[in-house]
Amino acid sequence: MTLRLGGQQPFARGGNRLCFIDPGEPARCVKVRRPDFTLEDVRRKKGFPKNLKPLSSFDDSLEEYQVIRSFQQHYPDGIFDHVSRCYGFVDTDMGRGLVSELIRDSDGRISITLKQYVWERGYSEDCQRAVQQLCEHWLRYCVPSRDLLVHNVVVQRDYQESEEAIRRLVVIDGLGSGNLVPMHWQPLWLQRSKTQRKVDNFHHRIETLLETRKHEQFPGEHGLLYHNGVDDSVAPPSKEEQS
Ligand SMILES: Nc1ncnc2c1ncn2[C@@H]1O[C@H](COP(=O)(O)OP(=O)(O)OP(=O)(O)O)[C@@H](O)[C@H]1O
Ligand SMILES: [Mg+2]
Repeated sequence: MTLRLGGQQPFARGGNRLCFIDPGEPARCVKVRRPDFTLEDVRRKKGFPKNLKPLSSFDDSLEEYQVIRSFQQHYPDGIFDHVSRCYGFVDTDMGRGLVSELIRDSDGRISITLKQYVWERGYSEDCQRAVQQLCEHWLRYCVPSRDLLVHNVVVQRDYQESEEAIRRLVVIDGLGSGNLVPMHWQPLWLQRSKTQRKVDNFHHRIETLLETRKHEQFPGEHGLLYHNGVDDSVAPPSKEEQS
């Protein structure tokens, strides 16, 4: 069966993919290639000699699927406490789509990125604690990943009465080490030192965002939702007064 996405507005866009709510399953999302930036475009942009590689080697969704499968096979299930799950591929009217766990807040709204959260709220104590928790998780499991980018981490929040609290941060993209030798085959000391570098780099990126926040517009075009999956109330991010 071919899933119809064409008539729906995506809730977000990254550099490579458009993200839609799965029409048949609100707890899942479907990611397809951006029609304005195809795999052929990616390959062409690489130049010689990388442009000799097969198209499939530029396919982020295929890589993500293989990485998540390897997490399922080689790591305890707890690794998914801070990594979105992945359910395989479906055919859609926009090409092959990767189905993933859609991270929503307790009120049903799609969780915003860490980039948007920090931009709007600053680096609250609640957020610092959540970042610390994510970093400890990364080091505990030595999760193979690229650099942790602030627009690839979402902030899942709980709302109780008028209180709001961060439940957890979830990494939704940029997983897998990209190495020929899988991370779980490498000696533990090496895994740990590589993971520590990712964690240090993540803190550094948050500091850079906080620096940018003092005097600029929202940086880059990615990391903002087009809609929240519940209503039309998504406004461009406003910066609160600096404390
Ligand atoms: N599972 C998810 N749950 C909630 N939001 C998500 C999820 N996956 C993606 N998003 C939202 O969609 C945006 C784009 O998704 P994603 O990072 O997968 O696209 P991409 O094109 O691969 O990104 P990149 O520019 O990093 O290559 C994210 O920044 C995030 O706001
Ligand atoms: Mg991304």
